[in-house]
Amino acid sequence: MAYLVTGCAGFIGGRLCEILVQRGNFVIGLDALTDYYDLRIKQNNLRSLQTYERFRFIQSDLVTNDLKPILEQVDCVFHTAGQPGVRGSWGEQFHLYLRNNIQATQRLLESIKSLHRNIKVVFSSSSSIYGNTDQLPTSETALPRPYSPYGATKLAAEHLCSLYCVNYGIPTVSLRYFTVYGPGQRPDMAFHIFIKALLQNAPIKILGDGSQTRDFTYVDDIVAANLLAAEKSVEGEIFNIGGGSRVSLRETLSILETVSGLTPTIHYEPPTKGDVRDTSADTNKARRLLGYEPKTGLEEGLRRQFGWEKGIY
Ligand SMILES: NC(=O)c1ccc[n+]([C@@H]2O[C@H](COP(=O)([O-])OP(=O)(O)OC[C@H]3O[C@@H](n4cnc5c(N)ncnc54)[C@H](O)[C@@H]3O)[C@@H](O)[C@H]2O)c1
Repeated sequence: MAYLVTGCAGFIGGRLCEILVQRGNFVIGLDALTDYYDLRIKQNNLRSLQTYERFRFIQSDLVTNDLKPILEQVDCVFHTAGQPGVRGSWGEQFHLYLRNNIQATQRLLESIKSLHRNIKVVFSSSSSIYGNTDQLPTSETALPRPYSPYGATKLAAEHLCSLYCVNYGIPTVSLRYFTVYGPGQRPDMAFHIFIKALLQNAPIKILGDGSQTRDFTYVDDIVAANLLAAEKSVEGEIFNIGGGSRVSLRETLSILETVSGLTPTIHYEPPTKGDVRDTSADTNKARRLLGYEPKTGLEEGLRRQFGWEKGIY
């Protein structure tokens, strides 16, 4: 099996590539190297991937480049490329969300369609497609009602995957990730920011009163779910991928205190628009059809992320 990982220089795509090559697979990594956050982080990810002979990097934009010569070489695509971040999706930058989440996915699917080859696509969707739901834990059958422009674009991309599957038989699977964390986490994400502040003895800003809850998922569990989705015959299906527990932001700070031995100074600020109150994944379907079982608990995962950030700050 040869794999294409789109978004290979990013947080999740980078870790997925690493695990694939360590398993002995051949991987083509594609990334446009967008400047959403410090490019040096992405270049660093790439540098370590390029030490593996089985990894080949192609700098390419899914929206503008000819993808067919790349797709001809692979059997399965892990489509992690996209424009993440809830806050940035309001206002002027929305065009990036349209482009990198919707257009990029449509172009990838069209290119596969034109090749008439059976290439599986595992799409990185998001719990943000649910919005503020009353159903906690949330199952895949809950009505999607995104609460942010970001969530709306991820839902549109997910629909594209499903409709190319039913119309053209492209075997697509969508995985709805619930807040991903661990070493390599994006610098705009909460745990990354909290740990950096702790290490630099700076105050931690909590947006809201800290009672909002999240289902946090360790990055290697996300990778495991991708591998299972690629292996199993689950074409056309959509799965929640969560970490197995629902924890408030305040609770995460006390876990961080235990893990780091450092006491945070906390500043509370008004919540941001688009941030949902609670998320919690019902992962029964993933358990049943994929055999998915999250393996890393929050304390252990945060310990590993803390260790990683200690090395860079
Ligand atoms: N991190 C999370 O908690 C989380 C949660 C739910 C869903 N997701 C989804 O998972 C995916 C990966 O997230 P991440 O946190 O690793 O983000 P990331 O920003 O670190 O990685 C995404 C990568 O995609 C690349 N990219 C963007 N547009 C592209 C294009 N047009 N062509 C080629 N490459 C392009 C970027 O350069 C970047 O390296 C995203 O689709 C995101 O929406 C992430």
